[in-house]
Amino acid sequence: MRKQLIVGAAVATIAVMALSSCSTRDTSSASGAVIKKGETIGVALPAKTSQNWVLAKAAFEKSIAAAGFKADVQYAAATNTVPDQQNEVSAMVTKGDKVIIVAAQDGSQLGTQVAAAKKAGITVIAWDRNLTGTKNVDYYVAFNNFKVGVLQGNALLAGMKAKKATGPYNIELFAGSPDDANAPIFFNGAMSVLQPKINDGTLKVASGETKFAQVSTQGWLAQNAQARMTDLLTKSYSSKTAELDGVLSPNDTLGRAILTAIHAAGKPYPIVTGQDSETASIPLIMNGTQYSTIYKNTQDEAQAAVDLVTTLSKGEKPKTVVDKNNFNGKITVPSVELTPILVTKENAVATYKDNPTLEALTK
Ligand code: BGC
Repeated sequence: MRKQLIVGAAVATIAVMALSSCSTRDTSSASGAVIKKGETIGVALPAKTSQNWVLAKAAFEKSIAAAGFKADVQYAAATNTVPDQQNEVSAMVTKGDKVIIVAAQDGSQLGTQVAAAKKAGITVIAWDRNLTGTKNVDYYVAFNNFKVGVLQGNALLAGMKAKKATGPYNIELFAGSPDDANAPIFFNGAMSVLQPKINDGTLKVASGETKFAQVSTQGWLAQNAQARMTDLLTKSYSSKTAELDGVLSPNDTLGRAILTAIHAAGKPYPIVTGQDSETASIPLIMNGTQYSTIYKNTQDEAQAAVDLVTTLSKGEKPKTVVDKNNFNGKITVPSVELTPILVTKENAVATYKDNPTLEALTK
């Protein structure tokens, strides 16, 4: 992390210098087609911290090939992750890729690289995770992240209510990694539901930790969430009568880590939320250990980005939305947003109908 922060300072300076020379908006109109059939789309993915990233490579390769382009998909390495992704994006510029799709390891650390891409006339699309602190991003394709958080907040309340009709309920909160622009949006979405219930006394957070900075999980790493949950249990729930009714978990990987910590402490499982419909979590949802997840179909998300490129290649203007949550510190990036689906035991079979791998896990 320390290394990434140092790089960040340098990037910020260069990014500011680069801004004036770039016009990012009209890649499609004036210059006509930005990419022709047979040309290459670069896709820079982060480290494989959750299953959605593992699935993303094949999803892009399939959608890109079907659309008649060539795919150049790269992952950031597990160590030295940010510099590795910076190098990969720079290499895509040098190789002459015509479009670069980026799911950032750290959204604030690619300013220099995307400035160079724009200078070379390349269309830059942020995918799933926004790029921050730069004007050099043309589009953002993702699921509606705020909505993900709202669904998680509602699920936490509904799950606890189904177990115990009235509160107050004791909960703890977890958020994703501060270097991922999605993490605060997920959290704000959830808190838009939970904060009023904290204010009116329906929900109690025994640790007192309710701010993003207090509840975030560096690197989205399971071991960090597990360690914090263990700590919270020792500090706030060690007496036999102290009950923990629910935990807001931002994704499945962290949800399982939280459940592991709770089990190890000999406590009953509370209501725990999630996200991603990971294959390891679906059985836990079906047997009642984890309460909910979110379905974000990775193939659909990759397809949406490739459809956007196809539209641009025809010289047409893509349909985008303005979502204030996608303000990246410099611009509100024109967005293509997909709709996330909340999944519990009740609707799992119906929701995964189109996905044989996931559906098989509901049996
Ligand atoms: C993605 C989530 C994922 C998380 C951790 C987020 O940016 O939107 O789906 O669980 O990163 O990898």
